[in-house]
Amino acid sequence: MSVRDGAIEELRAAVGLQIADEELLRELVGGLHDVEEVLREVVHSDVQAVKEAARHLVDAGGKRFRPLFTLLAAQFGNGGREAVITAAASVELVHLATLYHDDVMDEATMRRGAQSANARWDNSIAILTGDFLFAHASRLVADLGTDAARIIAETFGELVTGQLRETVGPGPGEDPVEHYLSVIAQKTGSLIATAGRFGGMLSDAPQEYVHSLRRFGEIVGTAFQLSDDIIDIDSPSHELGKSQGTDLREGIRTLPMLYALADDESDPRLVELLAGPLDDDALIDEALGLLRNSRGLERARVTLSDYAQRARTELAALPPSPARDACESVADYLVARTH
Ligand code: IPE
Ligand code: IPE
Ligand code: MG
Ligand code: MG
Repeated sequence: MSVRDGAIEELRAAVGLQIADEELLRELVGGLHDVEEVLREVVHSDVQAVKEAARHLVDAGGKRFRPLFTLLAAQFGNGGREAVITAAASVELVHLATLYHDDVMDEATMRRGAQSANARWDNSIAILTGDFLFAHASRLVADLGTDAARIIAETFGELVTGQLRETVGPGPGEDPVEHYLSVIAQKTGSLIATAGRFGGMLSDAPQEYVHSLRRFGEIVGTAFQLSDDIIDIDSPSHELGKSQGTDLREGIRTLPMLYALADDESDPRLVELLAGPLDDDALIDEALGLLRNSRGLERARVTLSDYAQRARTELAALPPSPARDACESVADYLVARTH
């Protein structure tokens, strides 16, 4: 297995993994290297325009958190090999496809530190490229058997339902915070749960481990989205690799905003700004500044810590090992990245 110089350090930095165990690190970096090869193979097309648009975001990078989690989960079985790599590449492709589509919906201009596909080309190209990636993800999963094919199809249905429910907003009488928490579990927790489930399942891990990995993935995935929503308010675009304040611009009320709106002592100006979508840069900056100093943001951080703690609890059913410690460090990282 060839491991490129510096790849281990990059891995540690990208997802905040605290892994002392060199053997596990090498295993993960080697696996990710193989996943990259599959990704590049898959996004090949004889049609130059298709190839270029599909490669664009693969090449731009990203954390590769989902495939990494699949590889990590496989450590609770026999480590697996080919099927696990295929599954890891598939979940990244599904994720990537949703990013092409999400950027169209958000009218985003930046993704993974590069221009988004809709900005670089146009909406039609971005949507079709997302479809192309979905098609190839499905093709890969077909090689893993009918169970895996059914699971990824169900997961995708769940993810899209979450995105739809977010777009539509809470129904009459529906509690906005509960709506938000169930939406993020659906749109983001679902795929991360499947990433863990696949890793366990395809490495023949015992059924109860697969169940815990799935549950851990769902909760950690929900925490992941919550942390993404916090840093959308709290971190500058150059750190995010995407534009700050997109949720405000799109009129998506994330947890810090919902908490700020529920707080009687919130700045009335913030409440006024949060009343509608904001399309003016100066108003977005003003709202971001007020949100950063709000108790809503603090309270959202507490909820994030609660989720990270719940995720850790799920790990108790897994055998103590460097892989379990690594899962735990992912939960810690999600909290740490919002500070
Ligand atoms: C972005 O996911 C979309 C969310 C679900 C928050 P990531 O933060 O994993 O994006 P990449 O893959 O690193 O670009
Ligand atoms: C998108 O959430 C989640 C999915 C694509 C399922 P966001 O809209 O918060 O993701 P970013 O911030 O654009 O990456
Ligand atoms: Mg978005
Ligand atoms: Mg976001």
